[in-house]
Amino acid sequence: MQPFVFYNPTKIDFGAGKVKNVGKTTAKFGKKALLVYGQNSLKNSGIFTRITSSLQHAGVEWVEFGGVKSNPVLSHTYAGIELAKKENVDVILAAGGGSVLDEAKAIAAGAMTDGDVWDFFIDKAKVKRALPLVTVLTLAATGSEMNSGGVVTNEKTQQKFNINGAALFPKVSILDPELTYTVPSDYTAYAGVDAISHLIEGYFTSTDTETPLQDRFVEGTVKVIMGATERLLRQGDDPEARANLMWASTLSLNGLSTAGIGPYGMPNHMIAHSLSAMYDIAHGATLSIVIPAWMAYQAERDPGKYARFANRVFRCSGGSMEERGLYASEAMKEWFRKIGAPIDLSEGNIPVADIPAIAENAMMLAQKWELTDYTKEVIVDILERCY
Ligand code: NZQ
Ligand code: ZN
Repeated sequence: MQPFVFYNPTKIDFGAGKVKNVGKTTAKFGKKALLVYGQNSLKNSGIFTRITSSLQHAGVEWVEFGGVKSNPVLSHTYAGIELAKKENVDVILAAGGGSVLDEAKAIAAGAMTDGDVWDFFIDKAKVKRALPLVTVLTLAATGSEMNSGGVVTNEKTQQKFNINGAALFPKVSILDPELTYTVPSDYTAYAGVDAISHLIEGYFTSTDTETPLQDRFVEGTVKVIMGATERLLRQGDDPEARANLMWASTLSLNGLSTAGIGPYGMPNHMIAHSLSAMYDIAHGATLSIVIPAWMAYQAERDPGKYARFANRVFRCSGGSMEERGLYASEAMKEWFRKIGAPIDLSEGNIPVADIPAIAENAMMLAQKWELTDYTKEVIVDILERCY
């Protein structure tokens, strides 16, 4: 195991019915909140009314800022920052999925600077201060509720980049699994894919071979996520499965699974973000397309850990190590197919001729994330396997 610092100050308030706490929770951080939310689901599901009643009851004034789109964009983020400044809000309250939470983080940072918030994304400036952020999660997938990152697309440059900084950890995240009962089956499947991806990026890219605790944590959590996702595709309001998917997805990207594994990368996310930036495909769907191809590419080079994953997650014990390594990628792909997630670039109507441009776009993030092994040729090779 490698030395590490684990720091995660987000308070989690988890359980059915916990949304009722949002008023008194927000009141601890100020009297006036910017209520950030998405397109339609918050109002259609009645969650909006439950939140605003609780705020009213706790004496918190709020300013509405809806319309965050899935794969949030910079232009809308700028509008949120302007409103937060104009209204002089004390706290940001984000109610939604990862997109809403991520844009809210950028607004929280942007509201505390005179500079351009995009500078934080392109590493021209560091986030030092941000307005306090409280979140109410309505779609459990990304882990944004308990981490310090956020992803926004600059529509002009087609860069889907991330912002980071300790000031961006939510102060409190309310995780009420009941709020996720209405998540449609496609996004439930994408949630399963995304949470699994967060676990396996570190698992497969770390070079430390002595991390049994982290390995078992990943393998076990992947199995729980697969089971919960399958149950939810049969019955979307299954309380136990919603609770398990919610907490598992939070734990998958809150720093726990990667603590002690040493340096690691997120190459699947690097390529997946380009697909969202260029074609506006849902995040989980971009990952289900990329991951099997990436796993096959890597397993061909160094099958050991893939063979073990095949054994521990998919109970595959026969064949050579090389065969088992490739089986891991096939089995993952088969499971994505089973839950209805896309496994092929053609499902997104993306022509083969676009591959060089996608690789060019991914190179921007490869540079930012210092994924030096990922040359344009390597990314093209992986993308060509996505058909
Ligand atoms: O916009 P509304 O109408 O609210 O609908 C949303 C949206 O269409 C809907 N939805 C949310 N809660 C619902 C619901 N529908 C019914 N009932 C509910 N309770 O679901 C759709 C997708 O929402 P979105 O927030 O886009 O999904 P997700 O949570 O998967 O977030 C994806 C974004 O998070 C980023 C992704 O790149 C993507 O932009 N990520 C953030 C990370 C982080 N901050 O740590 C890490 C991830 O790897 C990821 O990059
Ligand atoms: Zn992700």
